[in-house]
Amino acid sequence: MPDYFSSSALSRRDFLSTSAKLGAVVAAAPYLSRGAEVGAAKNADTVNVAIIGCGVEGSILTNAALPIPGIRFVAVCDIWPYNLTSSERRLKKYGHDAKPFEDYREMLATVKEIDAVFIATPDFMHAEQTNACLKAGKAVYCEKLMSNTVEGARSMVQTARETKKLLQIGHQRRSNPRYLHARDKVVRDARLLGRITNISGQWHRAVSDDYGVPRNQEMSAEKLSKYGYASMHEYRNWRWFKKYAGGVVSDLGAHQIDIYNWMLGANPRMCIASGGVDYYKTHEWYDNAIGIYEYPTKDGIVRATYEVLTTTSAGGGYHEYFMGDEGALKMSENPKFTKLYREARAPEWEAFVTQKIISRPDTGEGATVGLKPWDKPRQRLAIPSKVPTGAAAGGPAKVDVRETAQLSAWDMPVTLDKAIHQPHLENFFDAMRKGAALNCPADEAFASAVTVLKVNEAIAAQRMLTFAPKDFLA
Ligand SMILES: NC(=O)c1ccc[n+]([C@@H]2O[C@H](COP(=O)([O-])OP(=O)(O)OC[C@H]3O[C@@H](n4cnc5c(N)ncnc54)[C@H](O)[C@@H]3O)[C@@H](O)[C@H]2O)c1
Repeated sequence: MPDYFSSSALSRRDFLSTSAKLGAVVAAAPYLSRGAEVGAAKNADTVNVAIIGCGVEGSILTNAALPIPGIRFVAVCDIWPYNLTSSERRLKKYGHDAKPFEDYREMLATVKEIDAVFIATPDFMHAEQTNACLKAGKAVYCEKLMSNTVEGARSMVQTARETKKLLQIGHQRRSNPRYLHARDKVVRDARLLGRITNISGQWHRAVSDDYGVPRNQEMSAEKLSKYGYASMHEYRNWRWFKKYAGGVVSDLGAHQIDIYNWMLGANPRMCIASGGVDYYKTHEWYDNAIGIYEYPTKDGIVRATYEVLTTTSAGGGYHEYFMGDEGALKMSENPKFTKLYREARAPEWEAFVTQKIISRPDTGEGATVGLKPWDKPRQRLAIPSKVPTGAAAGGPAKVDVRETAQLSAWDMPVTLDKAIHQPHLENFFDAMRKGAALNCPADEAFASAVTVLKVNEAIAAQRMLTFAPKDFLA
């Protein structure tokens, strides 16, 4: 039995309070004290880590890695002194003497003891930096989206293959115990959703201002140009410009569209999409984008929509919603949005679910259905041709209620009393130390990058685009 399935001792209250903290992990860094004890240890198992790109995500990865035993930060690299200094200082505070560098090439040439590199720079730098690190013999954890171009992503897979070095891509949901449980147990083993016919996913955000620059922290035009940036505004707001990134679809959609492929174990056959620069005057990439895919699966076609909005937060946050003829599963990195629904027609669930009365922060009480651990595949029952509806059909009244089953902490084996990126980093280090399989190896991330980038292509083409199976192979 995989260890993510062992039951959690967390109470719901602990779980929710931990979850709330996760959102504030950069600011509060609640796990760092444990990292301080173990992070600087030196022994045979120690992994020497360097970071390239010490912005928001570089800080999140640092904080998530600090509690992992035997991790020693030996170098940090960033072109912006403002972020470089703050990263170096933060690490020093926790006992890590990381040498600072502006240029990653100098870092690789100077600090020979580096075993692994985290890359959290803007997407257009991922391929160049990953390929250089792999060629220098390092294992690489590179942030999503793998690259802003298919060619860049392909070169990364090929370099990993040639150098035989590990390359994990930062689609961290793939290592989240809740997501693993949902895919392996709920969807595959128990088939609680029945046949999946549709997926919808979304990330809705309100309008926000562009990032500015703290006083006296501007980089010179010459320096910006040396590293490929046209201006300080573009450097700070790189996500919105075509040269550096794939816009909101690759920034937010990448996480979720990757999960479509991962959950189904399939790649799509077509994509149509709509989007535009309708709102922001200083951006090149679309404010809002909507894509539709068709996935051929062994159970039949699955139609999937994805919607990313940056002009309104209305409509319920961010989630991936898998809908089947017997049940539906709403997944999100935010555990509050995770729910499992049962259709009235679904055959026996009793073997798999437990009913609990729990205390809810909003109303004070409420009923929740959790999931029991189970070992055997669920027995399929014949689906009646006429769907009985509860008491009217002579059955218990509760049967025709669309039960809402929250995948709650005591039944879901969620021991996520750690930052949401930590399990994915742990998987990376387990692969380095013990030969564990990577949860997001480069070739799978490549297929996701191809899927994600097609939305932008389809918006520009204003027509349906198709995929051939070979498009997903690097
Ligand atoms: N997995 C996740 O949940 C998640 C969340 C946010 C961002 N990301 C990804 O992380 C990456 C970084 O995003 P961010 O939000 O931290 O951006 P950011 O702008 O906050 O940070 C990027 C950092 O990279 C540095 N940089 C730029 N060019 C460089 C170069 N050539 N060499 C060295 N340093 C360079 C910048 O100075 C900056 O400090 C992106 O690929 C993004 O998609 C992932």
